[in-house]
Amino acid sequence: MQRKKTLLPVHTMQAIIGTDISYAKLLLQKGELVAIPTETVYGLAGNALNEDAVVKIFTVKNRPQFNPLIIHIPSFDVAQKYVTAVPEIAKTLARHFLPGPLTLLLPKKEVIPDIVTAGSKNVAIRVPDHILTRELLSQLDFPLAAPSANSFGYVSPTSAKHVYDGLNDKIPYILDGGECMVGLESTIIGFDENENLILYRTGGISIEDIEKVTGVTPVIKTNESDLPDTPGQLKSHYATDTPLYLGNISEMILEYKEKKIAVISFHEHFEGIDINNQFILSPSGSLEEAAKNLFKVLRKTDDLNVDIILTERLPDEGLGRAINDRLGRAQHINK
Ligand code: TXA
Ligand code: MG
Repeated sequence: MQRKKTLLPVHTMQAIIGTDISYAKLLLQKGELVAIPTETVYGLAGNALNEDAVVKIFTVKNRPQFNPLIIHIPSFDVAQKYVTAVPEIAKTLARHFLPGPLTLLLPKKEVIPDIVTAGSKNVAIRVPDHILTRELLSQLDFPLAAPSANSFGYVSPTSAKHVYDGLNDKIPYILDGGECMVGLESTIIGFDENENLILYRTGGISIEDIEKVTGVTPVIKTNESDLPDTPGQLKSHYATDTPLYLGNISEMILEYKEKKIAVISFHEHFEGIDINNQFILSPSGSLEEAAKNLFKVLRKTDDLNVDIILTERLPDEGLGRAINDRLGRAQHINK
């Protein structure tokens, strides 16, 4: 897949897939965009301090500018360059979980452009746990703003190929770090003036784990409106093009027997459905494995020639909550 390394004009752009950190660095320094691997999903990265690069991110993703971006840094120590204060409880979380799939909302310094935070006083800070991207970040003197590297509203990418499928003619380079190990976006936590924890998005770090290390139960604010606090919480998101239904799979197979069906189940097969159209998220019933497979399986089923995708809720605990959140948002609601 490694192609010639020239900067092509936009209209003939074809993304190169490779592992060349120096080239990724060069592009980013020039204000270009590069897709980067993280442990959660691939990000569409640009210099967070360069407004033109940030505008490009919104354009390439076709994402509304009211939806703010997470900035990625090589270690939590670097956060002090970009935020004015870090509550004690945020330090505790950082100590336990970073680098890792947890994003912290902290009061921003002026150096972070308003377009990154969509006008909010807080900036979302993340220290991703991926060897290539950490190396890249440590060689840059600016943070990387990076939303998931998919077109707005579609399923997030968990491999370089997923990024290529969606954005190949829109970006020059995809840094290939293999399959994402966690497979779900980061958990987003904010803090109010009393140092309460507010959970804005469930993700790769479970609520149970957060409670364990802080002794505090987060206030859940994963609200569903068209103009939410964190627009990743838009009701219809992560959606397949094929209508997806969430419920009791056996019952739905009977209800929709006239249709061509694909099934995504947690850990079992169902009778009466072509085995090639059935996907199991984790044969052993592991929520971690199911999380890792979720977006890949959603994309695979969406590529089948079927009328509908039937799937089910997983246990509402650990990573199951984040999986159920994503399935809920992917489901067909008369779009
Ligand atoms: O795992 C992840 O977090 C991935 C990887 C690439 O790091 N990124 C990701 O970015 O999921 P994105 O843009 O798809 O989702 C970011 C979420 C959005 O819901 C956005 O509204 C919220 O974070 N967010 C970002 N900055 C914020 C801010 N300043 N205040 C409130 N919410 C913010
Ligand atoms: Mg996203």
